[in-house]
Amino acid sequence: MSHEPRVLLGPGPSNVHPRVFQAMISPILGYLDPDFLLAMDETMARLRYLFQTRNEFSVTLPGTGMAAMEAAVCNVVEPGDEIVVGIHGFFGQRMAEIVERHGGTAVRVEVEFGQVVGVDQIEKALDEHPSAKMVGVVHGETSSGIGQPLAEIGKLVRERDKLFLVDTVCSLGGAHIPVDEFLIDICYSGGQKCIGGPAGISCITLNERAQEVVQARSKPVDTWYLDLMLIKKYWFADRVYHHTAPGPMVFALKEALGIIQEEGLEKRVARHNKVGDLLKEGLTDLGLELFGDPANRLSMLTCVMIPEGADDATVRGRLLKEFGIEIVGGFGPLKGKAWRIGLMGYSASERNVHYLLAALKEILPG
Ligand SMILES: Cc1ncc(COP(=O)(O)O)c(C=O)c1O
Repeated sequence: MSHEPRVLLGPGPSNVHPRVFQAMISPILGYLDPDFLLAMDETMARLRYLFQTRNEFSVTLPGTGMAAMEAAVCNVVEPGDEIVVGIHGFFGQRMAEIVERHGGTAVRVEVEFGQVVGVDQIEKALDEHPSAKMVGVVHGETSSGIGQPLAEIGKLVRERDKLFLVDTVCSLGGAHIPVDEFLIDICYSGGQKCIGGPAGISCITLNERAQEVVQARSKPVDTWYLDLMLIKKYWFADRVYHHTAPGPMVFALKEALGIIQEEGLEKRVARHNKVGDLLKEGLTDLGLELFGDPANRLSMLTCVMIPEGADDATVRGRLLKEFGIEIVGGFGPLKGKAWRIGLMGYSASERNVHYLLAALKEILPG
């Protein structure tokens, strides 16, 4: 091995269960092998469980979470379309940028890092832009450690007959995000965080309303590779070749999804909440200050201010070198000022919390 294993407590990737590694080295199958097609069907069924949806179209995409974000946006957006984007951090900014790269106009509803977007703010934007086609938000902002409430926005967006798009790359598999109940039309996530799989594969679900909008486009999607209706033909009855499915990644994700089902979503969310609370208590006991609105802090990603007298790079360097622990620095306005500590999927254990707190106790000054 070229490197030692790490205790991954950053914003992703997270550690994976040994069964996920094992699945990754399953024998390679052709992309139309009957056994592979069965594995795809099983993966879709497991994704429906994870997304808590009846959407038939719940599939994996080749590529990381950004591939899913781009697919979700570019399949809907046509030149000139207005898309309302609720922004409470770095990934919301990215979503808006992608809207614009595909010729749309992003109506930015932006709040400070550490806050969440209010349903009244989205309502105002929709009043001012009545022809907007979609509202997009990020649930777990990995940049700030804050979770955007979704249910009320979902109701509003449905009343206005728009599409509701939600990014759950940070949080799906660790938070309660029932796609159908929250009236989410398009939802996506990535493999490597709370789902407990590898980076390099993502997943997406679209309901019938969303697919109707995609199918009613006046022009084809402006990227071929992420054209969801072409991808659909490979996942469903036609089984038309679109790309060579990344078998090891699909098997690894399928296994991670199987582990989620065995644990049960409710218990899994409770585990993330429990260890998230334990970490926050432990950090506070060490005299550190947590970032962001306490009402909406994520369980799986904690943003904590770097205490006076501690040098960012030195502390993270020692954690990695002496303890094998990865935590990651802040983004944007929090760069150099905060650390981001993740407890995601297989990494979300009490043991990891105690280990990190003990290491910090030893490293932090006074
Ligand atoms: C909220 C959110 N959206 C999108 C992404 C992009 O995912 P990836 O880095 O897997 O492309 C990330 C990654 O950190 C994320 O946290």
